[in-house]
Amino acid sequence: MCGIVGLINGHAVAADLITALGRLEYRGYDSAGIAVAGPGFAVHKVAGRAAGLIPGINQTFGGQAGIAHTRWATHGRAEAHNAHPHVVDGVAVVHNGIIENHAELRAELIARGHRFASETDSEVIPHLIADACAAGAEPAEAVRQACTVLHGAYAIAVLFETAPDRLIVARQGSPVMVARGDGAAAVASDPAALAGFCTEYAALADGDIAELGRDGIAIMDFSGRPVVRKWEDVNEGETGTELRGFTTYTRAEIAAQPEALRRTDAALLPLLLPDAVAAAERIVVVACGSSLFAAATARQWIEQLAGVPCDLEIASEYRTREAPISRGTVAVLVSQSGETADTLAVQTLFREKRVPVVAVVNVAQSQMARDADLVWPTKAGRELGVAATKSFTCQMLALVRFGLALGLARGTVTSCRLAKIEREIAGLPEICHQAEALEPQLAAIARMIAMENEALFLGRGPGAALAAEGALKLKELSYIRAEAYAAGELKHGPIALIREGSPVLACVGEHAEKTLANAEEVRARGACVVALVGAAEAARFERIAEHCVVLPGSGLGLVFAQAVAVQLIAVHAAEVLGRDVDRPRNLAKSVTVE
Ligand code: G6P
Repeated sequence: MCGIVGLINGHAVAADLITALGRLEYRGYDSAGIAVAGPGFAVHKVAGRAAGLIPGINQTFGGQAGIAHTRWATHGRAEAHNAHPHVVDGVAVVHNGIIENHAELRAELIARGHRFASETDSEVIPHLIADACAAGAEPAEAVRQACTVLHGAYAIAVLFETAPDRLIVARQGSPVMVARGDGAAAVASDPAALAGFCTEYAALADGDIAELGRDGIAIMDFSGRPVVRKWEDVNEGETGTELRGFTTYTRAEIAAQPEALRRTDAALLPLLLPDAVAAAERIVVVACGSSLFAAATARQWIEQLAGVPCDLEIASEYRTREAPISRGTVAVLVSQSGETADTLAVQTLFREKRVPVVAVVNVAQSQMARDADLVWPTKAGRELGVAATKSFTCQMLALVRFGLALGLARGTVTSCRLAKIEREIAGLPEICHQAEALEPQLAAIARMIAMENEALFLGRGPGAALAAEGALKLKELSYIRAEAYAAGELKHGPIALIREGSPVLACVGEHAEKTLANAEEVRARGACVVALVGAAEAARFERIAEHCVVLPGSGLGLVFAQAVAVQLIAVHAAEVLGRDVDRPRNLAKSVTVE
C-alpha cells in the first residue's frame, strides 16, 4: 500500500509528479506529499488526497527532480506531519512497506542525538541515510548501508540535496519500477502512473538498488554488482472504465461487466493447461478479500467439473500455518492486483516447495503474473473504484473456465455438460446487463438497509460465497455492519441477532427449499426478508419476502446476476449515506503490507 513516484525530466517536475501520484491513489489516499530538489528542497504535505497538494505548489517548486507519496497509514495517524517525504539533513525519502525493526532503530538513533518529526516507521530511513552521508558515503552507498540494517518490506526513493539530478531507489519486498523515456528517468509503484512521462520500465527485484539520472539508469544488487532487469513498454492503452455518465467509477465499473466478461472469456478460451496442472490431485486456491469470495463461489464448480478436491485458503493464514502439502497439489492464486503481500508470500512458499502455481490475475505486469507457472488472466481492465466489482465477476468466470479446462483435460466433462455450461457462459454478459436494469428495486432495498443500519446475508453453495461478498461490499462502501452466513449455520448462533425489522438478504440458488425454510425462520422472528432469486423459485419466495428481486438466469447465470445485485445494493446504500463510493475510508485497492 502507499504509492511512491519520483521523476527527473529536465523541466519543472512538480505538476507531473502530482498527476502521477493521482494515478497511484488506489494504493492509499489518506495523506500526500511532495519534495522537489532546487537549491535546497521544496516540501509540501497535506492530509487527504494528492490533489490537495496543488494549491501549495509555488515558485519554490521549480526543480527538475522530485519525489512524491500517497499514503495508507500504518504507523501514525493520517496527518500532514506523518505524510512522506520525510526529510532529514538534506535527504528526502518516500517509502512503501513496513520497517519491522523501526522501534529499535529509532531508539538507537535518538540515543545518537537524532530528533524525529513523525510517528512513522519510515522516518528511520532518512535518518540512517543521513548518518551514512555524514560519515562520507556517496548517495547510492549511503542507501545501501541503511538497507543493511532495515528489517521488513520496503520500496524507497531517495532524493539528495547534494545530488539534485539523481534519484536512488531500493527494493526489498515491496513492488517498485524504474522507468526511462526521452530525457527522463522515473520511479513508481506501478508503471501506469508514468504513462506520458516515460516509455519503458523495469521491475526491480528484491535486493536491487538503482541510480537514476537523465543520462541513464544503473541497477545493482546490494553488494554493488550490476544486474540486468527486463525492460517492458509502459502501457498507454489501459486506462480503465470511463465514467459514461455515472457519478462514480464504481457504478460505471458495475455497468462495464458485460464487456469485461466478454474480454476475459475471449482471452481464456484458447488457453490450454500444461500437463503438470492437468494432472492435479488436489487444488489449493489462495486469495484475500473479494478475490477469496470469488474463489469460494467457484470451489464447487471446480470440484464438480474436474472431480478434484479443491481447498480454499485465506492467504494471510495459510502463509504461516505450515500446512502439509500433499503430492499432486496445484496452487491457484486469485488476485486482481497481483501484488497483495500475503498472496505473494504464499506464492514464494509454493515455489520453494516446487508446487505448480496458476495465477488468476488482472494486472498482467504484476509480480504474481511474472512469477507464476501459468497466468490464467482476467481482463477486467483497470478498476478505479477501490471496491472490486468487474474484477470479481471476471474472477468467477476465469475460475469456471479453469474448472472446465481441468475437467476437459481429465475427461470428466460429458459433452452434454460441456454444451450446457458453454451456453451458460455465453449468456453471462447479457444476464449482468439485465440484472443492472433492476436497479430501482435494488435502490429501494438499499434505502431500507441504510435506515436499519445492519444486514445479514445468507446463501448456500455458491450463494453462501456470494452472501459473503454482498456483506463485504456493503461494509466497505456504506460502513454498515453486515454479516454473512451459510444459511445452514443460521440457527447455530446468528439467529440471535434477528430483531423486528432486521434486513436479511437471501442469495437463493441451489437447495432453494432449504434456504426458504431458513428465510421462514428469520421471518417468524420479525426479519425483513429480501430474496435475490431466479424466476424458477420466485413464487415460493414472493409469499414470504418483504422484497423479492426476481433476477435473470439460473444456475451459473443466477450467481452472476446476484453479484450485480449485491454490488448495486452496496453502492446505493453508500450513496444514501453520503459516502465516498470510489474511495471509502481506511481502504486501499492494493494491499502490499501484511
Ligand atoms: C483489498 C481490496 C479488495 C481486494 C483485496 C485483495 O482489500 O480493497 O477489493 O479484494 O485487497 O486484493 P487482490 O488484488 O489480491 O485481489
